[in-house]
Amino acid sequence: MTADFRHFYQKNWAERTAIVAQQAHLTPAEQALFKQYYLPQHHEIIENYLTDYPLPMGLAVNLVVDGVDHIVPMVTEEPSVIAAASNGAKIVKRAGGFTTVLNQREMIGQIVLEQLSDPAATAAVIEAHAAALLKVADAAHPSLKKRGGGARRLRTRVLGQGYLSIDLFVDVQAAMGANMLNSMLEAVAKSIGVMTKQDALLSILSNYATASLVKAICDIPVGLLQAGRYAGKLVAQKIASASTVAQLDPYRATTHNKGIMNGIDAVAIASGNDWRALESGAHAYAVKDGQYRGMSTWTSDGRMLHGELELPLPVGIVGGSIKINELAQLNQRILGIQTAGDLERIMVAIGLAQNLAALRALVTTGIQQGHMHLQLKSLAMAAGATPEELPVILQRLELASQQDLATTQQLIAELRQTKEETDD
Ligand code: HMG
Repeated sequence: MTADFRHFYQKNWAERTAIVAQQAHLTPAEQALFKQYYLPQHHEIIENYLTDYPLPMGLAVNLVVDGVDHIVPMVTEEPSVIAAASNGAKIVKRAGGFTTVLNQREMIGQIVLEQLSDPAATAAVIEAHAAALLKVADAAHPSLKKRGGGARRLRTRVLGQGYLSIDLFVDVQAAMGANMLNSMLEAVAKSIGVMTKQDALLSILSNYATASLVKAICDIPVGLLQAGRYAGKLVAQKIASASTVAQLDPYRATTHNKGIMNGIDAVAIASGNDWRALESGAHAYAVKDGQYRGMSTWTSDGRMLHGELELPLPVGIVGGSIKINELAQLNQRILGIQTAGDLERIMVAIGLAQNLAALRALVTTGIQQGHMHLQLKSLAMAAGATPEELPVILQRLELASQQDLATTQQLIAELRQTKEETDD
Protein backbone atom coordinates (compact mmCIF):
# COMPACT_ATOMS: atom_id res chain seq x y z
CA MET A 1 0.00 0.00 0.00
CA THR A 2 1.22 3.48 -0.83
CA ALA A 3 1.95 5.66 2.22
CA ASP A 4 0.30 9.04 2.67
CA PHE A 5 2.87 11.62 1.56
CA ARG A 6 0.85 14.72 2.45
CA HIS A 7 3.04 17.01 4.58
CA PHE A 8 5.88 14.51 4.28
CA TYR A 9 8.23 17.47 4.71
CA GLN A 10 6.82 18.11 8.20
CA LYS A 11 7.74 14.65 9.43
CA ASN A 12 10.90 14.21 11.44
CA TRP A 13 13.85 12.24 10.15
CA ALA A 14 12.95 8.99 11.96
CA GLU A 15 9.40 9.09 10.61
CA ARG A 16 10.63 9.80 7.10
CA THR A 17 13.15 6.96 7.13
CA ALA A 18 10.54 4.57 8.52
CA ILE A 19 8.11 5.45 5.73
CA VAL A 20 10.65 5.00 2.97
CA ALA A 21 11.93 1.76 4.51
CA GLN A 22 8.43 0.32 4.62
CA GLN A 23 7.51 1.56 1.15
CA ALA A 24 10.68 0.23 -0.52
CA HIS A 25 10.91 -2.93 1.66
CA LEU A 26 14.42 -2.02 2.83
CA THR A 27 16.49 -4.40 4.92
CA PRO A 28 18.05 -3.19 8.23
CA ALA A 29 21.45 -3.13 6.45
CA GLU A 30 20.04 -0.89 3.72
CA GLN A 31 18.42 1.39 6.29
CA ALA A 32 21.75 1.64 8.12
CA LEU A 33 23.14 3.48 5.06
CA PHE A 34 20.87 6.44 5.84
CA LYS A 35 22.50 6.80 9.24
CA GLN A 36 25.99 6.19 7.90
CA TYR A 37 25.96 9.22 5.58
CA TYR A 38 23.60 11.43 7.62
CA LEU A 39 24.64 15.01 8.47
CA PRO A 40 22.10 16.88 10.63
CA GLN A 41 23.02 20.32 9.24
CA HIS A 42 21.96 19.20 5.78
CA HIS A 43 18.33 19.43 6.84
CA GLU A 44 18.91 23.15 6.38
CA ILE A 45 20.04 22.80 2.76
CA ILE A 46 17.42 20.72 0.96
CA GLU A 47 13.86 19.60 1.59
CA ASN A 48 12.81 16.12 2.75
CA TYR A 49 16.46 15.44 3.62
CA LEU A 50 17.24 11.76 4.02
CA THR A 51 21.00 11.32 3.97
CA ASP A 52 24.10 12.39 2.09
CA TYR A 53 25.20 10.83 -1.17
CA PRO A 54 28.96 10.48 -1.08
CA LEU A 55 31.06 11.24 -4.13
CA PRO A 56 34.83 10.85 -4.20
CA MET A 57 36.96 13.97 -3.92
CA GLY A 58 40.53 13.93 -5.20
CA LEU A 59 43.25 16.39 -6.14
CA ALA A 60 44.46 17.40 -9.57
CA VAL A 61 48.04 18.59 -9.52
CA ASN A 62 50.49 20.42 -11.81
CA LEU A 63 48.09 23.28 -12.62
CA VAL A 64 49.89 26.57 -13.19
CA VAL A 65 47.63 29.55 -13.85
CA ASP A 66 49.11 32.99 -14.48
CA GLY A 67 52.38 31.89 -12.92
CA VAL A 68 50.83 30.43 -9.73
CA ASP A 69 50.82 26.71 -8.85
CA HIS A 70 47.49 25.30 -7.69
CA ILE A 71 46.37 22.02 -6.17
CA VAL A 72 42.80 21.50 -7.35
CA PRO A 73 40.17 19.57 -5.36
CA MET A 74 37.78 17.79 -7.72
CA VAL A 75 34.62 15.84 -6.92
CA THR A 76 33.78 13.22 -9.52
CA GLU A 77 32.62 9.63 -9.77
CA GLU A 78 34.47 9.05 -13.06
CA PRO A 79 37.85 7.31 -13.12
CA SER A 80 40.66 8.95 -15.14
CA VAL A 81 39.22 12.49 -14.96
CA ILE A 82 41.63 13.62 -12.25
CA ALA A 83 44.55 11.76 -13.82
CA ALA A 84 43.78 13.40 -17.16
CA ALA A 85 43.49 16.90 -15.65
CA SER A 86 46.86 16.41 -13.92
CA ASN A 87 48.33 15.01 -17.13
CA GLY A 88 47.14 17.92 -19.32
CA ALA A 89 48.20 20.42 -16.65
CA LYS A 90 51.64 18.81 -16.44
CA ILE A 91 52.23 19.24 -20.18
CA VAL A 92 51.14 22.88 -20.02
CA LYS A 93 53.22 23.49 -16.88
CA ARG A 94 56.32 22.42 -18.80
CA ALA A 95 55.32 25.01 -21.41
CA GLY A 96 55.05 27.79 -18.81
CA GLY A 97 51.47 27.28 -17.61
CA PHE A 98 48.10 28.76 -18.56
CA THR A 99 47.45 32.45 -19.08
CA THR A 100 43.94 33.69 -18.36
CA VAL A 101 41.90 36.75 -19.30
CA LEU A 102 38.99 38.00 -17.19
CA ASN A 103 37.74 41.48 -18.04
CA GLN A 104 34.37 41.65 -16.33
CA ARG A 105 32.42 39.85 -13.63
CA GLU A 106 28.78 40.87 -13.70
CA MET A 107 25.62 38.80 -13.42
CA ILE A 108 22.71 39.48 -15.74
CA GLY A 109 19.09 39.22 -14.65
CA GLN A 110 15.99 39.75 -16.74
CA ILE A 111 12.51 41.14 -16.27
CA VAL A 112 10.17 40.07 -19.06
CA LEU A 113 7.09 42.08 -20.01
CA GLU A 114 4.42 40.54 -22.28
CA GLN A 115 1.50 41.55 -24.47
CA LEU A 116 3.02 44.91 -25.32
CA SER A 117 1.41 46.66 -28.29
CA ASP A 118 4.57 48.71 -28.85
CA PRO A 119 7.54 47.04 -27.10
CA ALA A 120 10.03 49.54 -28.56
CA ALA A 121 8.09 52.47 -27.05
CA THR A 122 7.95 50.73 -23.64
CA ALA A 123 11.69 50.04 -23.93
CA ALA A 124 12.34 53.73 -24.58
CA VAL A 125 10.37 54.74 -21.46
CA ILE A 126 12.30 52.25 -19.34
CA GLU A 127 15.67 53.30 -20.73
CA ALA A 128 14.85 56.94 -20.03
CA HIS A 129 14.43 55.97 -16.35
CA ALA A 130 17.46 53.66 -16.23
CA ALA A 131 19.34 55.68 -13.59
CA ALA A 132 16.34 55.67 -11.23
CA LEU A 133 15.79 51.95 -11.76
CA LEU A 134 19.44 51.20 -10.95
CA LYS A 135 18.92 53.05 -7.66
CA VAL A 136 15.84 50.93 -6.94
CA ALA A 137 17.92 47.82 -7.60
CA ASP A 138 20.69 48.94 -5.22
CA ALA A 139 18.16 49.86 -2.53
CA ALA A 140 16.84 46.28 -2.65
CA HIS A 141 20.28 45.00 -1.59
CA PRO A 142 22.15 47.86 0.08
CA SER A 143 24.92 45.70 1.56
CA LEU A 144 26.15 44.84 -1.91
CA LYS A 145 26.86 48.50 -2.70
CA LYS A 146 28.70 48.84 0.63
CA ARG A 147 30.96 45.97 -0.46
CA GLY A 148 31.80 47.76 -3.71
CA GLY A 149 29.29 46.00 -5.95
CA GLY A 150 25.81 46.92 -7.14
CA ALA A 151 23.66 47.50 -10.19
CA ARG A 152 25.78 48.70 -13.12
CA ARG A 153 23.55 49.14 -16.15
CA LEU A 154 20.27 48.28 -17.77
CA ARG A 155 19.60 47.06 -21.31
CA THR A 156 16.35 46.39 -23.14
CA ARG A 157 15.79 43.76 -25.83
CA VAL A 158 12.67 43.48 -27.94
CA LEU A 159 12.08 39.71 -28.23
CA GLY A 160 9.19 39.78 -30.71
CA GLN A 161 5.51 38.77 -30.34
CA GLY A 162 4.95 41.57 -27.84
CA TYR A 163 7.64 40.48 -25.38
CA LEU A 164 10.34 42.78 -23.98
CA SER A 165 13.30 41.75 -21.82
CA ILE A 166 14.83 44.32 -19.48
CA ASP A 167 18.29 43.10 -18.54
CA LEU A 168 19.94 44.26 -15.34
CA PHE A 169 23.74 43.95 -15.01
CA VAL A 170 24.97 43.62 -11.43
CA ASP A 171 28.45 43.43 -9.94
CA VAL A 172 27.86 40.68 -7.35
CA GLN A 173 31.39 40.80 -5.88
CA ALA A 174 32.49 37.48 -4.34
CA ALA A 175 29.11 35.72 -4.61
CA MET A 176 27.46 33.90 -7.48
CA GLY A 177 24.68 36.31 -6.63
CA ALA A 178 21.52 34.51 -7.72
CA ASN A 179 19.47 35.40 -4.65
CA MET A 180 20.56 39.02 -4.39
CA LEU A 181 20.03 39.53 -8.10
CA ASN A 182 16.54 38.03 -7.93
CA SER A 183 15.59 40.37 -5.04
CA MET A 184 16.87 43.34 -7.03
CA LEU A 185 14.97 42.24 -10.13
CA GLU A 186 11.70 41.86 -8.27
CA ALA A 187 12.07 45.38 -6.82
CA VAL A 188 12.86 46.83 -10.26
CA ALA A 189 9.92 44.92 -11.78
CA LYS A 190 7.58 46.58 -9.27
CA SER A 191 8.87 50.04 -10.23
CA ILE A 192 8.51 49.21 -13.91
CA GLY A 193 4.95 48.08 -13.18
CA VAL A 194 4.14 51.47 -11.68
CA MET A 195 5.90 53.28 -14.54
CA THR A 196 4.39 51.32 -17.47
CA LYS A 197 1.23 49.85 -15.92
CA GLN A 198 2.55 46.45 -17.01
CA ASP A 199 3.01 43.52 -14.63
CA ALA A 200 6.15 41.54 -15.33
CA LEU A 201 5.65 38.03 -16.67
CA LEU A 202 8.77 36.92 -14.78
CA SER A 203 11.91 38.28 -13.13
CA ILE A 204 14.93 36.00 -12.76
CA LEU A 205 18.68 35.89 -13.28
CA SER A 206 19.97 34.53 -16.57
CA ASN A 207 22.43 31.65 -16.51
CA TYR A 208 23.68 32.82 -19.88
CA ALA A 209 26.36 34.84 -18.09
CA THR A 210 27.94 36.65 -21.03
CA ALA A 211 29.18 39.40 -18.72
CA SER A 212 31.24 36.86 -16.74
CA LEU A 213 33.49 35.47 -19.43
CA VAL A 214 36.87 34.02 -18.63
CA LYS A 215 39.44 32.68 -21.07
CA ALA A 216 42.38 30.28 -20.68
CA ILE A 217 45.19 30.22 -23.21
CA CYS A 218 48.21 27.96 -23.56
CA ASP A 219 51.08 27.66 -26.03
CA ILE A 220 52.88 24.34 -26.01
CA PRO A 221 56.08 23.51 -27.91
CA VAL A 222 55.07 20.47 -29.98
CA GLY A 223 57.95 18.39 -28.62
CA LEU A 224 56.15 18.20 -25.26
CA LEU A 225 53.21 16.36 -26.84
CA GLN A 226 55.14 13.31 -28.00
CA ALA A 227 53.25 10.15 -27.02
CA GLY A 228 54.89 6.74 -27.47
CA ARG A 229 55.62 6.29 -31.16
CA TYR A 230 53.75 9.51 -32.10
CA ALA A 231 56.07 12.50 -32.68
CA GLY A 232 55.02 15.72 -30.94
CA LYS A 233 54.52 17.57 -34.23
CA LEU A 234 52.11 14.92 -35.48
CA VAL A 235 50.22 14.88 -32.17
CA ALA A 236 49.83 18.68 -32.31
CA GLN A 237 48.53 18.49 -35.88
CA LYS A 238 46.05 15.76 -34.95
CA ILE A 239 44.83 17.68 -31.87
CA ALA A 240 44.24 20.69 -34.15
CA SER A 241 42.31 18.46 -36.57
CA ALA A 242 40.21 17.05 -33.72
CA SER A 243 39.46 20.63 -32.70
CA THR A 244 38.33 21.46 -36.26
CA VAL A 245 36.01 18.45 -36.26
CA ALA A 246 34.47 19.69 -32.99
CA GLN A 247 33.84 23.06 -34.68
CA LEU A 248 32.16 21.39 -37.66
CA ASP A 249 30.12 18.59 -36.13
CA PRO A 250 27.70 18.87 -33.19
CA TYR A 251 27.96 15.11 -32.55
CA ARG A 252 31.67 15.42 -31.91
CA ALA A 253 31.35 18.88 -30.27
CA THR A 254 29.04 17.46 -27.59
CA THR A 255 31.59 14.82 -26.53
CA HIS A 256 34.50 17.26 -26.83
CA ASN A 257 32.61 19.60 -24.51
CA LYS A 258 31.61 16.82 -22.12
CA GLY A 259 35.34 16.24 -21.65
CA ILE A 260 35.88 19.93 -20.80
CA MET A 261 32.96 19.91 -18.36
CA ASN A 262 34.39 16.76 -16.70
CA GLY A 263 36.94 19.08 -15.14
CA ILE A 264 34.85 22.21 -14.66
CA ASP A 265 31.93 20.42 -12.99
CA ALA A 266 34.25 18.53 -10.66
CA VAL A 267 35.76 21.81 -9.41
CA ALA A 268 32.33 23.45 -9.30
CA ILE A 269 31.04 20.72 -6.99
CA ALA A 270 34.19 20.78 -4.83
CA SER A 271 33.87 24.54 -4.40
CA GLY A 272 30.15 24.46 -3.54
CA ASN A 273 29.04 26.05 -6.82
CA ASP A 274 25.91 25.42 -8.88
CA TRP A 275 27.19 23.21 -11.69
CA ARG A 276 23.80 23.07 -13.45
CA ALA A 277 24.00 26.85 -13.88
CA LEU A 278 27.53 26.56 -15.29
CA GLU A 279 26.57 23.66 -17.57
CA SER A 280 23.60 25.47 -19.09
CA GLY A 281 25.59 28.69 -19.55
CA ALA A 282 28.56 26.90 -21.10
CA HIS A 283 26.46 24.96 -23.61
CA ALA A 284 24.47 28.07 -24.55
CA TYR A 285 27.78 29.84 -25.19
CA ALA A 286 28.88 26.92 -27.38
CA VAL A 287 25.99 27.67 -29.72
CA LYS A 288 26.36 31.45 -29.70
CA ASP A 289 26.76 31.73 -33.48
CA GLY A 290 23.81 29.46 -34.23
CA GLN A 291 25.61 26.10 -34.43
CA TYR A 292 26.69 24.02 -31.44
CA ARG A 293 30.50 23.88 -31.54
CA GLY A 294 33.49 22.73 -29.49
CA MET A 295 34.06 25.16 -26.61
CA SER A 296 37.83 25.10 -27.05
CA THR A 297 39.99 25.58 -30.12
CA TRP A 298 43.45 24.18 -30.85
CA THR A 299 45.71 25.27 -33.70
CA SER A 300 49.25 24.38 -34.63
CA ASP A 301 51.88 25.98 -36.85
CA GLY A 302 54.07 22.87 -36.64
CA ARG A 303 56.23 24.40 -33.91
CA MET A 304 53.68 25.24 -31.21
CA LEU A 305 50.21 24.05 -30.27
CA HIS A 306 47.97 26.97 -29.28
CA GLY A 307 44.86 26.27 -27.17
CA GLU A 308 42.03 28.56 -26.08
CA LEU A 309 38.88 28.10 -24.05
CA GLU A 310 36.46 30.92 -23.23
CA LEU A 311 33.37 30.31 -21.11
CA PRO A 312 30.86 32.12 -18.93
CA LEU A 313 31.77 30.95 -15.41
CA PRO A 314 29.84 33.03 -12.88
CA VAL A 315 31.01 31.27 -9.72
CA GLY A 316 31.05 32.43 -6.11
CA ILE A 317 33.25 31.91 -3.09
CA VAL A 318 30.64 33.11 -0.56
CA GLY A 319 26.89 32.69 -0.22
CA GLY A 320 24.62 29.84 -1.21
CA SER A 321 25.43 26.56 0.51
CA ILE A 322 29.15 27.44 0.69
CA LYS A 323 28.81 28.94 4.15
CA ILE A 324 27.45 25.67 5.58
CA ASN A 325 29.70 23.40 3.59
CA GLU A 326 32.95 23.04 5.50
CA LEU A 327 34.62 21.14 2.69
CA ALA A 328 33.79 23.82 0.13
CA GLN A 329 35.47 26.34 2.43
CA LEU A 330 38.44 24.08 3.01
CA ASN A 331 38.79 23.56 -0.73
CA GLN A 332 39.11 27.30 -1.24
CA ARG A 333 42.14 27.18 1.05
CA ILE A 334 43.60 24.22 -0.84
CA LEU A 335 43.01 26.06 -4.13
CA GLY A 336 44.79 29.10 -2.69
CA ILE A 337 42.19 31.55 -3.98
CA GLN A 338 41.24 34.99 -2.67
CA THR A 339 38.50 36.04 -5.09
CA ALA A 340 35.74 34.52 -7.19
CA GLY A 341 37.74 35.61 -10.24
CA ASP A 342 40.66 33.43 -9.07
CA LEU A 343 38.29 30.45 -8.99
CA GLU A 344 37.00 31.24 -12.50
CA ARG A 345 40.57 31.33 -13.83
CA ILE A 346 41.39 27.95 -12.28
CA MET A 347 38.18 26.38 -13.57
CA VAL A 348 38.64 27.49 -17.15
CA ALA A 349 42.28 26.31 -17.06
CA ILE A 350 41.26 22.90 -15.68
CA GLY A 351 38.72 22.63 -18.51
CA LEU A 352 41.42 23.24 -21.10
CA ALA A 353 43.90 20.88 -19.37
CA GLN A 354 41.22 18.18 -19.30
CA ASN A 355 40.48 18.72 -22.98
CA LEU A 356 44.16 18.58 -23.94
CA ALA A 357 44.70 15.25 -22.17
CA ALA A 358 41.55 13.72 -23.68
CA LEU A 359 42.39 14.86 -27.23
CA ARG A 360 46.02 13.73 -26.96
CA ALA A 361 44.86 10.29 -25.84
CA LEU A 362 42.14 10.13 -28.51
CA VAL A 363 44.45 10.96 -31.42
CA THR A 364 47.28 8.67 -30.27
CA THR A 365 46.73 5.51 -28.22
CA GLY A 366 42.94 5.89 -28.06
CA ILE A 367 40.97 6.70 -24.93
CA GLN A 368 40.58 3.13 -23.70
CA GLN A 369 44.22 2.50 -22.86
CA GLY A 370 44.47 5.18 -20.15
CA HIS A 371 40.81 5.49 -19.25
CA MET A 372 40.03 1.78 -19.09
CA HIS A 373 43.21 1.10 -17.16
CA LEU A 374 41.91 3.40 -14.43
CA GLN A 375 38.31 2.22 -14.88
CA LEU A 376 39.28 -1.37 -14.10
CA LYS A 377 39.23 -0.83 -10.34
CA SER A 378 35.64 0.43 -10.47
CA LEU A 379 34.72 -2.46 -12.74
CA ALA A 380 36.26 -5.01 -10.36
CA MET A 381 34.48 -3.51 -7.37
CA ALA A 382 31.16 -3.35 -9.24
CA ALA A 383 31.61 -7.04 -10.06
CA GLY A 384 31.96 -7.77 -6.34
CA ALA A 385 35.72 -8.12 -5.82
CA THR A 386 36.80 -7.69 -2.19
CA PRO A 387 39.74 -5.38 -1.37
CA GLU A 388 41.89 -8.52 -0.83
CA GLU A 389 40.93 -9.92 -4.25
CA LEU A 390 41.43 -6.61 -6.07
CA PRO A 391 45.18 -6.83 -6.91
CA VAL A 392 44.88 -10.31 -8.47
CA ILE A 393 41.66 -9.46 -10.32
CA LEU A 394 43.22 -6.28 -11.74
CA GLN A 395 46.25 -8.22 -12.95
CA ARG A 396 44.03 -10.80 -14.67
CA LEU A 397 41.73 -8.13 -16.14
CA GLU A 398 44.69 -6.33 -17.71
CA LEU A 399 45.45 -9.54 -19.61
CA ALA A 400 41.85 -10.46 -20.42
CA SER A 401 40.63 -10.13 -24.01
CA GLN A 402 37.33 -8.60 -22.80
CA GLN A 403 37.20 -6.06 -19.98
CA ASP A 404 33.53 -6.11 -19.06
CA LEU A 405 31.35 -7.00 -16.08
CA ALA A 406 30.68 -10.58 -17.14
CA THR A 407 34.39 -11.31 -17.67
CA THR A 408 35.24 -9.73 -14.32
CA GLN A 409 32.59 -11.76 -12.49
CA GLN A 410 33.93 -14.88 -14.18
CA LEU A 411 37.48 -14.02 -13.03
CA ILE A 412 36.27 -13.46 -9.45
CA ALA A 413 34.41 -16.78 -9.49
CA GLU A 414 37.53 -18.57 -10.77
CA LEU A 415 39.69 -16.95 -8.11
CA ARG A 416 37.28 -17.98 -5.34
CA GLN A 417 37.04 -21.49 -6.74
CA THR A 418 40.84 -21.84 -6.74
CA LYS A 419 40.99 -20.47 -3.20
CA GLU A 420 38.36 -22.95 -1.99
CA GLU A 421 40.27 -25.82 -3.59
CA THR A 422 43.54 -24.69 -2.00
CA ASP A 423 41.86 -24.26 1.41
CA ASP A 424 40.35 -27.78 1.27
P1 HMG B 1 49.97 8.18 -19.12
O1 HMG B 1 50.51 8.57 -20.44
O2 HMG B 1 49.98 6.76 -18.72
O3 HMG B 1 50.59 9.03 -18.02
O4 HMG B 1 48.50 8.76 -18.99
P2 HMG B 1 52.06 9.23 -17.53
O5 HMG B 1 52.49 8.00 -16.80
O6 HMG B 1 52.94 9.80 -18.60
O7 HMG B 1 51.73 10.38 -16.48
C1 HMG B 1 51.56 11.73 -16.85
C2 HMG B 1 50.86 12.43 -15.71
O8 HMG B 1 49.48 12.05 -15.69
C3 HMG B 1 51.39 12.07 -14.33
O9 HMG B 1 52.52 12.84 -14.02
C4 HMG B 1 50.19 12.38 -13.46
O10 HMG B 1 50.11 13.75 -13.20
C5 HMG B 1 49.03 11.95 -14.33
P3 HMG B 1 53.56 12.32 -12.88
O11 HMG B 1 52.77 12.21 -11.61
O12 HMG B 1 54.04 10.98 -13.35
O13 HMG B 1 54.60 13.36 -12.85
N1 HMG B 1 48.66 10.55 -14.05
C6 HMG B 1 47.96 10.16 -12.98
N2 HMG B 1 47.44 10.83 -11.96
C7 HMG B 1 46.73 10.15 -11.04
N3 HMG B 1 46.56 8.82 -11.09
C8 HMG B 1 47.06 8.08 -12.09
C9 HMG B 1 47.81 8.77 -13.10
N4 HMG B 1 48.43 8.36 -14.23
C10 HMG B 1 48.95 9.46 -14.79
N5 HMG B 1 46.88 6.77 -12.12
C11 HMG B 1 46.27 9.08 -18.45
C12 HMG B 1 47.44 8.13 -18.35
C13 HMG B 1 45.01 8.35 -17.98
C14 HMG B 1 46.51 10.29 -17.56
C15 HMG B 1 46.14 9.53 -19.96
O14 HMG B 1 45.94 8.38 -20.75
C16 HMG B 1 45.07 10.51 -20.19
O15 HMG B 1 45.20 11.69 -19.88
N6 HMG B 1 43.93 10.04 -20.78
C17 HMG B 1 42.75 10.85 -20.95
C18 HMG B 1 41.68 10.30 -20.04
C19 HMG B 1 40.42 11.12 -20.02
O16 HMG B 1 40.25 12.08 -20.73
N7 HMG B 1 39.52 10.73 -19.16
C20 HMG B 1 38.24 11.39 -18.99
C21 HMG B 1 37.14 10.39 -19.15
S1 HMG B 1 36.89 10.04 -20.87
C22 HMG B 1 35.74 11.28 -21.26
O17 HMG B 1 34.72 11.32 -20.65
C23 HMG B 1 36.10 12.43 -22.14
C24 HMG B 1 36.23 12.26 -23.62
O18 HMG B 1 35.16 11.59 -24.20
C25 HMG B 1 36.34 13.65 -24.15
C26 HMG B 1 36.51 13.73 -25.64
O19 HMG B 1 36.07 12.85 -26.36
O20 HMG B 1 37.10 14.77 -26.07
C27 HMG B 1 37.45 11.45 -23.90
